Amino acid sequence: MKFFTPSLGLLAAFVAHTQAGLRFPCSTLTTQRLDPAAQPGALPSAHLHMIVGGNAFNATMEGDVGARATCTTCQMADDFSNYWVAHMYFKDPKNGTYHRVTPKPVQPLLGGSNGAQGGLTVYYTQFDLSKDNLARQPVKAFPPGFRMTVGSPTLTTKPHAGLSYQCMSGSSRGTIVSSFPTGKCSNGIFTTHHFPPCWDGKSLDSPDHQSHTYNTVTSEGFTNAPACPASHPIRVPQVTFEIEWDTTKFNSLWDPAKDKNPFMWSFEGNGAGTHADYMFGWKGDSLQRAMDKSECFYDGCGTITKQAMSQANKCTVKDFIKEDIDGWQKFLPGMAAGAKA
Ligand SMILES: *[C@@H]1O[C@H](CO)[C@@H](O)[C@H](O)[C@H]1NC(C)=O
Ligand SMILES: *[C@@H]1O[C@H](CO)[C@@H](O)[C@H](O)[C@H]1NC(C)=O
Repeated sequence: MKFFTPSLGLLAAFVAHTQAGLRFPCSTLTTQRLDPAAQPGALPSAHLHMIVGGNAFNATMEGDVGARATCTTCQMADDFSNYWVAHMYFKDPKNGTYHRVTPKPVQPLLGGSNGAQGGLTVYYTQFDLSKDNLARQPVKAFPPGFRMTVGSPTLTTKPHAGLSYQCMSGSSRGTIVSSFPTGKCSNGIFTTHHFPPCWDGKSLDSPDHQSHTYNTVTSEGFTNAPACPASHPIRVPQVTFEIEWDTTKFNSLWDPAKDKNPFMWSFEGNGAGTHADYMFGWKGDSLQRAMDKSECFYDGCGTITKQAMSQANKCTVKDFIKEDIDGWQKFLPGMAAGAKA
């Protein structure tokens, strides 16, 4: 997020008066065609995803995920939620073959990435990142079984509010833009996936996986979220995640002056189709406890402990789909000749 472009020193000063917010890395758990939120039961789902979080991840996920999972790739040891996105791809302009663009740990994190592998960085914020507003608008943690998505692969002109891109060069994240950057990014492409902060208070899901939630935020970055509307009166933690995609190894393979933008999402989609999925899975009332404690920021707090990323990295799930996703490929996974999702 734009707010975090400044130096670590500034960031540390900022943390001192920030309350009720969490920020932590989660390593990649698995990369498969599974989507228990948008396509429950589908083995495989339409397109490839990069997935992080708990090992209860499966094609179908109902009930209390936090009670079922036994490990997580997230630093917060009580967070067995799953977070996933479409995978980024590079399509070679010369021969038309595809290659996965893998994520690298998001920087800066206090103390570095702590050994995270790939994955993403998650935020749970209470109001914004500069002020504690618990008295005015208490945050209610999600109930077991809750899931939501943001954005849609069918959008083709502009992404959903809160979903964005930045062209990274060195430690600068660059200007926030609404599609894949048009030039070469010397340090990769940064994507932000910002979920709505309001909930109807009743539904664990909805037919479109979105209408049980409401997005009050229309600008990018961390801004003061306005009050939730009567239709969706419950303020839930604002979940956001960020990913750094390592596009640098593809920079020598294209010419921005001649070639069409070679980056795309795994559904052969352009920048507008960026989307993200969330399956709540914190153990018991741990998320509620974290959000109620103003000292819970950037760190474990009380019984909500951090685990070493070396431990988190050992968490895995089985390969349900067993398809080859590595190397240069003639088709995107699931998109073989004529099959478009
Ligand atoms: C995945 O879900 C199926 C169907 O609910 C279940 O039978 C299976 O045990 C689950 N697998 C794992 C590894 O959790
Ligand atoms: C396509 O181009 C890439 C990058 O130059 C190369 O590594 C790959 O082998 C090529 N694939 C085919 C089928 O020519």
